Amino acid sequence: MATQPMVLVSVGKLNFPEDVAAALADTAHVQYVAGDYAAQLGEAIAVVVGPEPVNEAYLSRAPQLRIVARFGVGYDAVDIDACTRRRTYVTYTPDILSAAVADLTWALILGWMRRIPEGDRYSREQWGRGKAAFPFAWDLGGKVVGFLGLGRIGGEAAKRGCGFGVTMIYHDIVRRPDLEAHYGVEPVGFEELLGRSDILSVHVPLTPSTAELLGRKEFRQMKPSAVLINTSRGGVIDQAALVEALEQGVIAGAALDVCTPEPIPPDDPLAQVKNLILTPHCASATWETRRKMAERCAENVRACLEGRRPPFVVPEQREQTF
Ligand code: 8YV
Repeated sequence: MATQPMVLVSVGKLNFPEDVAAALADTAHVQYVAGDYAAQLGEAIAVVVGPEPVNEAYLSRAPQLRIVARFGVGYDAVDIDACTRRRTYVTYTPDILSAAVADLTWALILGWMRRIPEGDRYSREQWGRGKAAFPFAWDLGGKVVGFLGLGRIGGEAAKRGCGFGVTMIYHDIVRRPDLEAHYGVEPVGFEELLGRSDILSVHVPLTPSTAELLGRKEFRQMKPSAVLINTSRGGVIDQAALVEALEQGVIAGAALDVCTPEPIPPDDPLAQVKNLILTPHCASATWETRRKMAERCAENVRACLEGRRPPFVVPEQREQTF
């Protein structure tokens, strides 16, 4: 009997549940891998990958690989050109996680504006001990929320902004007249976005043109009262410059779901900053969304193994059929 094609899954059973793996059992042998799984790549026809780099070195160990199924919408860690040269599909999981990421974006905005992490610490440690009063927070109403990037996730974030009485502006290389009309979000230039935003939320993918797009110069163009929100990729921000800007009061604060590196070492300068909220790259980490992501990865893998073009191939491979 011919052996079944080998699918390696590096994102664990919590993210890629066993019943989703079992649904592939008629076409593939699914194997969960952890840590450095380079030695297992030789047999792999398909991989379901998390944040690990899929580069020339990775691909050279996987001569049979036909599909890299990214468990996520961002694929900055995958060398698409190298995959294309090897006639290997790269797929991703767009749309289904946009709502979850937009929800966490607003949770971070509200967390900062209403001092929620501080309120939690204060309630446990100081409230009942008659210590200093809890400091006032800030209204959202009347503030300017700026979106750097208004794609799938930025659009969902703008949708959620409609009830707060905020003014919404955005900067993107692509104009979105549909979202402008629906949610009243106004297109502005990059400098204007920086200068007007009370809350600046990052929703661009990490690409060579967005790497460290926000650095020392840009922070100095922002309001000293502004807060920076990032649920995209840490690499969009010059992190050393951000630490400096936060420590020197160039901007008031930041709330980040992503940083560089991940996980953040406890002694990293960023982790020492006080006027900062950090969450552990968990914007898409809800039961419902992670399941949908797993199912979408499985759908892509199944199509490839059955000789069909996977439904969610990355745009760079739009023209390719392998
Ligand atoms: C996931 C993400 O946490 O979609 C993305 O690109 O960054 C997140 O949704 C990540 O992909 C898990 O590897």
